[in-house]
Amino acid sequence: MLSTRAGPAGPEEALSRRAGARYHATMSNPKLGLIGLGVMGANLARNLAGHGASLVVYDAAASTTERVAADTGGVGAADVAALAAALPAPRTVFLMVPAGAPVDAAIASLRPHLGRGDAIIDGGNSFYLDTARRQADLARDGIHFMGFGVSGGAEGARLGPAIMAGGDADALAPHVPLFEAIAARAPDGSACFARVGSGASGHFVKAVHNGIEYAHMQLIAETWHLLRRLAGLDLARGRDIFATWSRGPLSSFLMECAVRVLDTRDPETGAAVIDAIVDTAEQKGTGQWTANAALRYGVAAPTLAEAVHARCLSGLKDERMALEALLGPSTMPFAGDVEALVRALEPALLAANVAVLAQGFSLIAAADAEEGWGVDPVNVARVWRGGCIIRSSLLEPVAVACARFGRGPTILRDHDLWKLIEAGDAAWRQVVVMAVAHGIPVPAFGSALTYVDGLRTGRLWADMIAAQRDVFGEHGFTRLDRPGRHHATWAPYDPAPRG
Ligand code: 6PG
Repeated sequence: MLSTRAGPAGPEEALSRRAGARYHATMSNPKLGLIGLGVMGANLARNLAGHGASLVVYDAAASTTERVAADTGGVGAADVAALAAALPAPRTVFLMVPAGAPVDAAIASLRPHLGRGDAIIDGGNSFYLDTARRQADLARDGIHFMGFGVSGGAEGARLGPAIMAGGDADALAPHVPLFEAIAARAPDGSACFARVGSGASGHFVKAVHNGIEYAHMQLIAETWHLLRRLAGLDLARGRDIFATWSRGPLSSFLMECAVRVLDTRDPETGAAVIDAIVDTAEQKGTGQWTANAALRYGVAAPTLAEAVHARCLSGLKDERMALEALLGPSTMPFAGDVEALVRALEPALLAANVAVLAQGFSLIAAADAEEGWGVDPVNVARVWRGGCIIRSSLLEPVAVACARFGRGPTILRDHDLWKLIEAGDAAWRQVVVMAVAHGIPVPAFGSALTYVDGLRTGRLWADMIAAQRDVFGEHGFTRLDRPGRHHATWAPYDPAPRG
C-alpha cells in the first residue's frame, strides 16, 4: 500500500453533513476499488468518498494514487493486486480509464486477482459492442462486467453526474444506494441514476445520449450561424437573443453553454473568443458509433448522422477555403426580414430538438428490441433530466411521452410533443427555406424537418424504389390492392414520346 489515511471525518460524522445521507442509513462503509485517477476518476473518487464510500484507489502514476488516497481518506494501492487484496469479497472495482485498449489492459491485469461473484464497472465512454464482448468473456470466470454511461464531464463527476448503468441487476443491487447518492438530481429531486437494462445497454444509451448531444449542438451552431452570418446581427444582439431563449422553453445546459461562449472575451484582445475560433469541430467517435448503430438496427436517425457528417465537413477547412475561392461563396446577401427570421428560429429550434430526441428514442427502442436488454425508455429520459450534457426542460415531457410511446416506433405520437412540432412547423419551414435560398447549409434543421415530414407522409416515394428493384433484380414488391409478394412483367425500355 502506498498510503492509508483516515478521512477528514468518520462515516457517521460525514453522514450528518451530506445530502446523500440516506445512503449511509442503510449501508455501512461500503468498499469500492477505483482504477484510473485522471481528472474524471479523481473527481468521481472525491464524490464517492464524500458520500461515504471507502475507497481503495490505484493509478499508474504512484504520486496520483497517493494524492487521491489522501484527498478521499481512502487506501492507495501500489498495484492492482494490492487493490484487489484490500477489497472484501465480493469485490467491486470501478474503472475510469480511457475507452478502448486501456480498458482491456486494466481488465487483463485485474482478472487474475478477481474471482467468481466479483464485479468490474467500466465508467468510461466505451463502445457498447466492446462492453458486450468483455461481459461474455469475464462471465466465463463468473465475474460480472457492467458498463456505466457517465455524463457531465469533470464537474459532473465531482458534483453529480447522470449515470446510465447497464449489466447484471443482482451484482449492481448492493451499490444502487451509493450511485444514487453521488448522482445529479433532476428538477424534482430524484437521482439521475438508473440501471437502464442488462448487457451493454448502459454504454449504448450513453452513445445515443452523445448522438443527441452532437445533433443539439449542431442545431445551436446552425442557429447562431443564421443569426450572425445570414441576418447579420451583431454579437451583443445575438447573445441577448440566446440568453432570452435559454430562460424559456429552450432552456437547456447546451444553451447555457452557448451563452457562456458568447459572453467570453479574449483577455488580450478584448474581442469575443467565438470570432477567433476556427470553424472546425473535432470528435472522439461516440457520435459516429450512434450513427453506425442507427444503420445497424435499420432506424432512421438522420439528424444524429448529419451532425457527425457536419463535423466531418467542418474538418475540410482547407478544401472549403479552396472551393470558395474557386467557385465563390454559396452564401448570398440576405434579402429577407431579419425580425421574421429571429422570430422563426426559436420555435424552429425547439421543434427540431424534439425531432432529434425522437430519433434517439427510436434508436434505443429498436436496439433494445433486438438485443433484449429490457430498457425502460422512461428511466432513460428521467436520468437525462439532470447532470448530463443534454439535460433540458424538454426531457420532462419526453419522459411522459416515453411511458406510452417509448418502445417505438416514435414518441412523436405523444400529443404534447406533437404540439411542439406543430407549433414550430411553419417557422421551421421558413428557416430552412431562407437558409437554402441564401446558400447557408443547415444539415440539422433540414434533415430533422425531412425526418418529421417523412414520418407524417402516408405515401412516400419508395414505390418507385420498390419497382426499380424488381425491374433490375426481380426482388419483388408488395401491392396496395392485394396481399402477398409480387413481380411485374416490366415494359421494355422505349424512350419514344407517348403523349
Ligand atoms: C458527456 C459528454 C462527454 C464528452 C463527449 C465529447 O456526456 O459528459 O458527452 O462524454 O464531452 O464525449 O465528445 P466529442 O469529443 O466526440 O465531441
